[in-house]
Amino acid sequence: MTFVPVSSVFDAPLESEVSLRGWIYRHRSSGAIVFAVLRDSSGIVQVTLKKGNVPDEQLEAARAVSMEASVEISGRVYEDKRAPGGREVRASSFHIVGQADVYPITEYQSEELLLDNRHLWIRSREQTAVMKIKASVLAGARDWLREQDFTEVTPPILTQNACEGGTTLFKLKYFDRDAYLSQSAQMYLEALIFSLERVYSITPSFRAEKSRTSRHLAEYWHLELEEAWVDNRGNMDIQEGLVTAMVERVLNERKEELLMLRQDIEPLRDVRPPFKRMRYAQAIERLREKGFDLKWGCDLGAAEERALTAEETVPVFVTNYPKECKAFYMKEDDEDPRTYACADLLAPAGYGEMIGGSERETDLAKLLARMEGQEICTEPYRWYLDLRRYGSVPHSGFGLGVERVTKFICGIEHIRDTVPFPRTVSRVYP
Ligand code: 4AD
Ligand code: MG
Repeated sequence: MTFVPVSSVFDAPLESEVSLRGWIYRHRSSGAIVFAVLRDSSGIVQVTLKKGNVPDEQLEAARAVSMEASVEISGRVYEDKRAPGGREVRASSFHIVGQADVYPITEYQSEELLLDNRHLWIRSREQTAVMKIKASVLAGARDWLREQDFTEVTPPILTQNACEGGTTLFKLKYFDRDAYLSQSAQMYLEALIFSLERVYSITPSFRAEKSRTSRHLAEYWHLELEEAWVDNRGNMDIQEGLVTAMVERVLNERKEELLMLRQDIEPLRDVRPPFKRMRYAQAIERLREKGFDLKWGCDLGAAEERALTAEETVPVFVTNYPKECKAFYMKEDDEDPRTYACADLLAPAGYGEMIGGSERETDLAKLLARMEGQEICTEPYRWYLDLRRYGSVPHSGFGLGVERVTKFICGIEHIRDTVPFPRTVSRVYP
């Protein structure tokens, strides 16, 4: 028997014979008829089983089947205005592949119960839609980066470096030494530009974030890029191109999924170059006008980012952050040495930071002085500092949070719903 995807029922000639397999999504019986809605990776379709059309014992099996049991059915395609999508399959055979216990998830459930049953909840149509959209985000990125001559590389996850500072590191025993789970591949990518010039990686990154926010995960997917011979402006152009390609890919192949998430498609069409650009100094000016009490030098948090972009449909770059709120490896800005040649890219509609990036400091003396000022032990960075000793070149790079981008594109409130198995301060099960 050749099985076809559930979605193909809606293109099949009327009265043609189809065989489907999937899971029982909904189910009820009324007198001599059993109505089941069958779900597979492509969608859902109504199946009706009527006495006389299917053998009696199969009809009884269908009557008794539980939600989420796996089944195989054959039947013919008919129009039916009341069925989802306007068609149904009238079954001639029905077989249970895997029976199901009483399903623990019913219509109204607490968030905690859904998280405890995440291994089952990921079957939901909303979660399925998000995972498909996320796959398109990644595919759009990979294809675009290839076109732009970037080479995908595979940096390590176990490391001795604290790229983004010591406070959010997961420490572990590495044989008889200490090591950390990587927060960022940046330094390894910097080493790789000396042969490959334009590189990127997509890896898990780990942050021991104690705060419970709707935009922090302890484990997230990080798309990082590093480019030789590129300054911070060029770096921003690449970010623009990349984010546009991601959104475009989703708009091209995931409209149905966006609709299912009730996400408004129109504003997403505005995500294309040029993105807005403002300096940190302008950003805090604007925020002060909105009543924020901000001093030069303080970092922008979620509330500030939300206020800056609430009315926007286009992403916004904030450039030239003061040195005191960013990492030691960033290049000092030529025109304003109080700041770095850096940019954060904020998503529209208040979704907040999606990308952090900068030109990198290549001046060894400046790097060493900053590390000393911040009491960073140079020993684990010996190799990194070496990169400034052997044919150093101007270069820039950035890190994009794949879940942050997915959250924005899908219009999802909480970042945990952009990963199948979220890791947060309170959860590492299932
Ligand atoms: O701004 P961050 O900390 O920058 C870096 O790690 C650089 N070393 C990257 C680079 O230049 N190669 O992180 C980059 C992005 C953020 O903009 C955000 O989108 C995401 O990673 N991110 C998180 N996403 C989910 N949960 C968290 N806890 C995140 N922390 C950062
Ligand atoms: Mg950042």
